[in-house]
Amino acid sequence: MPKWLNDAVFYEIYPQSFLDTNGDGIGDLEGIIQKLDYVKSLGCNALWLNPIYDSPFKDAGYDVRDYKKVAPRYGTNDDLVRLFDEAHKKGIKVLLDLVPGHTSEEHEWFKKSCEADKNEFSNRYIWTNGAFCGIAGHPYIGGEAERDGCYMLNFFKCQPALNYGVLNRTEPWQMATDDPDCIATREAMKDIMRFWLSKGCDGFRVDMADSLVKEDDEVKSATGKIWENIRQMLDEEFPEAALVSEWSNPECALKYGFHADFYLDHHGNGYNVLFRDGETEGGDHSYFKKDSNESPMRFLADYQHKYDNSKEYGHISFISCNHDTPRLTKTMDVSELKIGYAFLYTMPGVPFLYYGDEIGMKYLDKVKTKEGGFQRTGSRSPMQWDDKAANFGFSTASADKLYIPVDDSKDAPSVASAENDPDSLIHMVRSIIALRHEYTDLQADSDFEVLYAKENERLLVYRRGSLVISVNPGEAEVKVSKKDLAGVPSDFKGDLIYGIGSADLNGDELVLGKQSFAIFE
Ligand code: GLC
Ligand code: CA
Repeated sequence: MPKWLNDAVFYEIYPQSFLDTNGDGIGDLEGIIQKLDYVKSLGCNALWLNPIYDSPFKDAGYDVRDYKKVAPRYGTNDDLVRLFDEAHKKGIKVLLDLVPGHTSEEHEWFKKSCEADKNEFSNRYIWTNGAFCGIAGHPYIGGEAERDGCYMLNFFKCQPALNYGVLNRTEPWQMATDDPDCIATREAMKDIMRFWLSKGCDGFRVDMADSLVKEDDEVKSATGKIWENIRQMLDEEFPEAALVSEWSNPECALKYGFHADFYLDHHGNGYNVLFRDGETEGGDHSYFKKDSNESPMRFLADYQHKYDNSKEYGHISFISCNHDTPRLTKTMDVSELKIGYAFLYTMPGVPFLYYGDEIGMKYLDKVKTKEGGFQRTGSRSPMQWDDKAANFGFSTASADKLYIPVDDSKDAPSVASAENDPDSLIHMVRSIIALRHEYTDLQADSDFEVLYAKENERLLVYRRGSLVISVNPGEAEVKVSKKDLAGVPSDFKGDLIYGIGSADLNGDELVLGKQSFAIFE
């Protein structure tokens, strides 16, 4: 386990929307380099960049055409190496996005695979043995290639699935996971990883990490074996490199070798019931909505076993949002976000902040889809640096040339205006992240124990190391006797080291004002 992860706080950058330095309306690597000091000022000491590889951009770069070449619109391979170097000088690590489940249909491997004559890449993708023989469970006819077969897709139609084999084989064209051609796919991924790691990259966020072997079993044991093998390579050759999965099943992902796994917005899971439970009947039931009246119990019912069963292997990663998910401002106001973020950045594991969430950028529900974004496009709009500058300082291009239009609402936030407002979210985000760096008890590894949580009650009290943290997301004051806080010694000093709203633990009671959050020492 790379030690640096213990104190890591990640900032996710969607490169096309961060900062455009050559006026073409699209963010670039130079823009990221210019803003490293800003990232550092937030307290973030690691970056995750969405794909920066050469691509026809039908899925915003998750359709890779060449894994070893930076997309010209972002810069060159040399620019990326410069980004690694400049980031390292400032104590910032950089993760790239590895897309191992599929490539673009324009990847050279796929073009070769489409040829009728057998070649090295014929089995790099999953093909049936006849154009009229559809993929099991997917009754379509391919028929676009010279090759007499039909290929499997992994996500969008432009993303043919790479072939790591099939576990439960029922069709003659399905290949075993230990077939040399399937092993070759895995080795090709390792080769790509080595390529960037040896240039200074610090690891990978892995796209659809659970999607490698098809007809895998419920715990994805065959896909898991591949990750175990890849992790072994990292341990031997790049022991400081981090591997973070898009899997949202830490009990599987971390056992198979990932250092951290995202807790994603899957319907009904613990992360969703905290922040994103707006689609259930009877209004928004998210714990952090001030008027939801929800207890933390539904969150804990999902989180606690995930934490208990995975903590010895790695970390759960809470996110503020990501490029696939509506920004939290869609349903939450700043007062709710402050309590939510304070919780998020004081939980165990390795947390992520999505660009713009530190200023409460909005989810733009009216923008047109871009590069396969569809409803995700609203969370991918240009970073709002300066409300006084054209395009918020994102780009000097004319507004119609921008990758995605900027937020045109009157109260659109910007970094410049947030910096000038002492009550703004950015200051709160900075202060909680700074505290996390200061107290090892708040970092990834240190223990987590629930001290108070009850059905029908808003209060949540938990321990991180020797610190006691209390949360009241609701609109009413809550009180609880110190005796009822399991595990807090009666002589606990109860000095407040961080607070939002009013909080007191000096007497025999813990008293928390409406919408409050407090850390006691
Ligand atoms: C992941 C990415 C998403 C992409 C998909 C296909 O879910 O986060 O943006 O569209 O995989 O690669
Ligand atoms: Ca540009």
